[in-house]
Amino acid sequence: MPTLVCRGLTKTFHRDLPESRPALDGLDLSVAPGDFLVLIGGNGAGKSTLLNTIAGTVQPDRGSLVIAGRDITALAPHKRASLVTRVFQDPMAGTAAAMTIEENLAVAERRGQAHRARSLLTPERRARYRDWLAELGLGLEDRLDTSVALLSGGQRQALSLLMAVVSQPLLLLLDEHTAALDPRTANRVMEATMRAVTERRLTTLMVTHNMSQAIATGNRLIMMDAGRIRFDIRGAEKAALTPDALVERFHIDNDRMRLGH
Ligand SMILES: Nc1ncnc2c1ncn2[C@@H]1O[C@H](COP(=O)(O)OP(=O)(O)O)[C@@H](O)[C@H]1O
Ligand SMILES: [Mg+2]
Repeated sequence: MPTLVCRGLTKTFHRDLPESRPALDGLDLSVAPGDFLVLIGGNGAGKSTLLNTIAGTVQPDRGSLVIAGRDITALAPHKRASLVTRVFQDPMAGTAAAMTIEENLAVAERRGQAHRARSLLTPERRARYRDWLAELGLGLEDRLDTSVALLSGGQRQALSLLMAVVSQPLLLLLDEHTAALDPRTANRVMEATMRAVTERRLTTLMVTHNMSQAIATGNRLIMMDAGRIRFDIRGAEKAALTPDALVERFHIDNDRMRLGH
């Protein structure tokens, strides 16, 4: 059974305006368990709208969404939290600044049930959190009771990633989650991402504008344009790709797409 099936997803913002264009235009997509799907496309192609629709914060005008056989098209975002988790581009978005690192992790482990986070903090849990944080390689393992407000953007983003994976979601959504970080920190967060996805065998949909990263990562590469999928390259064909071949083969205007190298 596919982990995710999108059928005919259509969304137009500001439908009342004559110049409005669909952000999603009848998009069909099927994601198999264990797929690591990398999504590229120019600004405004509809990548974030697709992820927002899957997470439930954008309601499609038409079409349906099925996760592991369950139709979730009309399900409220918080009710999808046990199925789908996400990391945004903005390092401030995924964590609660007023709480400590361990409180944030306790909440994430309870899949968003915020109450009584402190009472969850048993010695066993703290030991587990320390191990997880050590894996991130960002020096957070000795700072369990530090307020998240004191962390750097990269540290917060790494913590957001951890929070998104500890509940073992069916689907992990990453929307340019390293784009706001300096290159060194971005690499670390990407390495932590690969470790988390591999070790937990997560099915993942990652948006990036970094073409080399898109080619080096995952088993499927999808390009979106004007709310549709323009190509979907898999397996051995994907593994053999180079950035230049991709640009040439699909006549990608690399300046316009801002895909980078
Ligand atoms: N919440 C929103 N309200 C109005 N327009 C939106 C909203 N989200 C996205 N759009 C519009 O939908 C189109 C696709 O945007 P988006 O999905 O953010 O593209 P991408 O992530 O590929 O850059 C754009 O024209 C954008 O302006
Ligand atoms: Mg976007």
